Amino acid sequence: MYTIITPKKILVSLLFVCSPLLKAQDSFEQQINTLLAKMTLEEKVGQMNQYNGFYDATGPAPQGGNAAQKYEHLKKGWVGSMLNVRGVEEVRKIQELVVKESRLGIPMIFGFDVIHGYKTQSPIPLAEAASWDLEAIQKSASIAANEASAVGLNWAFAPMIDISRDARWGRVMEGAGEDPYLGAKVAEARINGFQGDDLSAPNTIAACAKHFVAYGFSEAGREYNTTDIGTNTLFNIALPPFEAAVAADVKTVMNGFNVLNGIPVTGSSYLQRDILKDKWGFEGYVISDWSSIGELVPHGHAENLKQAAEFGAKAGSDMDMESKAYITHLAENVREGKVDEGLVDDAVRRILRVKFELGLFEDPYLYCNEEREKERLFHEDHMQGALEMAKKSMVLLKNDGNLLPLKKDQKGIVVIGDLADDKNSPLGSWRLASDDNTAVSVVEGLQTYTNAFKFVQGPKVFDDDASFLQHVIINTTDSSGMEEAVAAAKMAEVVIMVVGEHGFMSGEARSRTKIDLPGLQHDLLKAVYAVNKNIIMVLMNGRPLTINWEAEYIPTILEAWQLGSQSGNAVAQVLFGDYNPSGKLPMTFPRSVGQVPIYYNHFSTGRAEKEPNVFWSHYADEENSPLYPFGFGLSYSKFRYSDFNLDSSDATQIKVSVKVTNSSTVEGEEVVQLYVNDPYASIVRPVKELKGFKKISLEGGASQTVSFTLTDRELGFYNSKHEWVVEPGKFNVMVGTNSQEGLSGSFERQ
Ligand code: GLC
Repeated sequence: MYTIITPKKILVSLLFVCSPLLKAQDSFEQQINTLLAKMTLEEKVGQMNQYNGFYDATGPAPQGGNAAQKYEHLKKGWVGSMLNVRGVEEVRKIQELVVKESRLGIPMIFGFDVIHGYKTQSPIPLAEAASWDLEAIQKSASIAANEASAVGLNWAFAPMIDISRDARWGRVMEGAGEDPYLGAKVAEARINGFQGDDLSAPNTIAACAKHFVAYGFSEAGREYNTTDIGTNTLFNIALPPFEAAVAADVKTVMNGFNVLNGIPVTGSSYLQRDILKDKWGFEGYVISDWSSIGELVPHGHAENLKQAAEFGAKAGSDMDMESKAYITHLAENVREGKVDEGLVDDAVRRILRVKFELGLFEDPYLYCNEEREKERLFHEDHMQGALEMAKKSMVLLKNDGNLLPLKKDQKGIVVIGDLADDKNSPLGSWRLASDDNTAVSVVEGLQTYTNAFKFVQGPKVFDDDASFLQHVIINTTDSSGMEEAVAAAKMAEVVIMVVGEHGFMSGEARSRTKIDLPGLQHDLLKAVYAVNKNIIMVLMNGRPLTINWEAEYIPTILEAWQLGSQSGNAVAQVLFGDYNPSGKLPMTFPRSVGQVPIYYNHFSTGRAEKEPNVFWSHYADEENSPLYPFGFGLSYSKFRYSDFNLDSSDATQIKVSVKVTNSSTVEGEEVVQLYVNDPYASIVRPVKELKGFKKISLEGGASQTVSFTLTDRELGFYNSKHEWVVEPGKFNVMVGTNSQEGLSGSFERQ
């Protein structure tokens, strides 16, 4: 509780002390108004100012300023939040400084990039999305919240919900893939996992839907590049996951670095005020991305930092992450009449509201519990949760000849690959808070089953001291180790080859123009294949890769992404059949990077049909089809679809059902997917769109009828005037095992 120092504090503290009794939201509003009335303009602007912690930088090193100046501003109450502060001791020290030394003692909120875990890392978000298991995804986020809140943090800069169709862009690893329906469902699950049922509980934290909006459409997949999309893509693809996040009561939204259709999103009142706050009724606050307010200047939108502060505040960017535009110029802009103080009050009200809801006014040290910190990090329950999530995230892409699952007493196993004993890459690029070398490697996972295998690293692929701030150095010339690997493979009964990307080859600022296997891995695969065709390829990557030769020649391919702390144990359990892989691709795998952007929910075009001449939509040197489509994934089981039924007698509830039979003897899970196509509409509609899915489990030989209900919510779209409409006419429906295979029917909507 407060240390009462001044008469004013007695009054303010009394108000806060009784806040347990005044839990209702309107009491918060009364307290906010009372507090706001007491605040000077500088103190208000201070709430809109966020500083980076005194060490880690997750963006360009903090420009200007220094720890001494930051401490001065903390004591003055000119800092509303900090990011990258780690550990209860640090958080408590800073919180005490602010609560006890500043005039009004307004507690700080501490944010961090808890992208897929704090210490315990779950699979990268793209992998989690591949599970299509919303319950597991929510639980994974709650584990992350459990650990983050144990180190004093009360705000995660997650979930990232940028739709992207471009595997060249490194941050596809951080989202839920290419589809707005799946993206919206995953967003909701992750927000509920972070925020729980009671945001004032010490083990729940505020979530942050980011990056608002369309950052995933960076031109040419180049990081921080321009985005320029039509309103149809904006309203029907990019925005829906954010609309779902607001509906899920996300407490904060982060804007982005990108210019969208000529205006930086950080400076767009159309996006942040008209759509997010007015149309959708978002009551939380918008945090800028790292220095994105200041970057209005290099974007060529603001003339200088002072104008950037003006434009950012007017556009509804409520808090300034590390650009120092607000703390330096916003009060001056208000005094000069350039920014209405009412806009500042609105921003501050939003920020204070989240702090009240987090319980920080009631107890600023609610998240500072040294005992909990010791007890929760890397907790066995968290590791178990990470293992379950990892198992569900893997996608079986190929299993010709049924090399998988391995027999428990399989002999003659040789494991090859630089990534096979890598204990860092599986943690992914956003492993900011975790500890190096804490992932279970594939070799270690296999050892829990057997030691009767030989591991040969083969040629080095990556340098060992790659860092978050620098690019990975890739070996493309030194083939030493190749001969030893080939010799071992020659003697093997089965070869497990672990290939893919280093953990720091995807993520922020990691765009690639070529998305094939880096280094000499492709050559290694071919050399091994030449002596032994019984290859199981375990792929560890942060993005879809063009693995055409592998897809044609390697008999078995398991997509293992970057699965986090329990990676090797999860991979081993799938390889030995103790878990039957059930994942489905959340993002299309291209045949060639030249096809990118490639996605399943594309338009037909006017010349989709193959012609005897060249005048139809195609490439001269590549197929149109993907290597692996959205929603694709195999199982050790075999699932057969039959008895498609569609009942449109009730136009408001179209009933669709299908029978799914597991025709194998192995129990397995199947993600049954429902797609809809509106063949004729006022704006052209995609050839199909995901509008429902159910993950079911079936014993060998069992069947289950899976039903869906289609309503206007699934049939409608935003038209050219950005109005939500449902148009009469024919609708095609498909229910299947991926976006290309299923049973279909149609109905007429009046
Ligand atoms: C980074 C990222 C953003 C992250 C923020 C704080 O540049 O774009 O997603 O939350 O800065 O680290």
